Amino acid sequence: MLNLLGMQILGAVSPTTKMVDDLFWFVFIVSAFFFAIVTGGIIILVALYRRRGKPGLTSGASHNTALEIVWSILPVILVVIIFFWGFQVFMRLSISPGDSMEIRVTARKWNWLFKYPDGSRSGQLVVPVEQPVRLVMSSEDVIHSLFIPDFRVKMDVLPNRYTTLWFQADKAGEYDLLCTEFCGDGHSRMYTKVIALPKDEFEKWQTENQGTASGPDLFVMYGCATCHSLDGKPGIGPTMKGLHGKTETLADGTTVEVDDNYLRESILEPQAKIVRGYQPVMPAQPDITSDELDALIDFIKSQQE
Ligand code: CUA
Repeated sequence: MLNLLGMQILGAVSPTTKMVDDLFWFVFIVSAFFFAIVTGGIIILVALYRRRGKPGLTSGASHNTALEIVWSILPVILVVIIFFWGFQVFMRLSISPGDSMEIRVTARKWNWLFKYPDGSRSGQLVVPVEQPVRLVMSSEDVIHSLFIPDFRVKMDVLPNRYTTLWFQADKAGEYDLLCTEFCGDGHSRMYTKVIALPKDEFEKWQTENQGTASGPDLFVMYGCATCHSLDGKPGIGPTMKGLHGKTETLADGTTVEVDDNYLRESILEPQAKIVRGYQPVMPAQPDITSDELDALIDFIKSQQE
């Protein structure tokens, strides 16, 4: 098994990996073969027929019918094979198996939220092995793109529309999941993991994942951690350290005391009061439940100096 730039190169970890890799290697080997023939031929002919002494008369050969037919028909056959093979792989990648487990994906600046059929949520894509998984994805703001390199699957995630993608993890393990459409300051931080678990461990995880997540988990799951530090360093947004009880100066020069109601408003309607020196870039959180909101506010309150 070869690993290049963190990507599995040989050793399929998903049926989609295998179908994409087989086609890729076919195209690559055919291309490498003809590259060698053409460049090798040029080098040999240049050496063989280089100018030596007085030039003699060149031969009157103008064409070679057999050779021309071969170099026309052969590439046509290869290109047609690549077309039909590629079309077949495209169709198989586009149509998820009927027994797929459906997980909804919400992308926003700048994190991923995965919603399971039982209503639970997660910031990491936890899936059972040997089970086709269909992602139904949409964005709350700009265009993002979900990419799982090890499974060779990638699909744009658009606002106001659903796009889908499927894969099946054949081996338990952790796989990278990232955004590949530049979506602003935090684009490179739209990075999480696919965690493939054996069936029984997945069921255990699902039971544990029900109900309201803990404050620290929510802080990551809703993407707060992307922009708000806990250690006092300013990020894309103000730090959470010592925030509760502090008096903030807003963009319009007025001041506000940070209490529970201010935090609540800032989570549900982030544009209502912008702290001076920061951009109004935080997305609203329409998915958050009231229990989660309470847990998140408690967590922020606990971040004292
Ligand atoms: Cu989301 Cu880049």
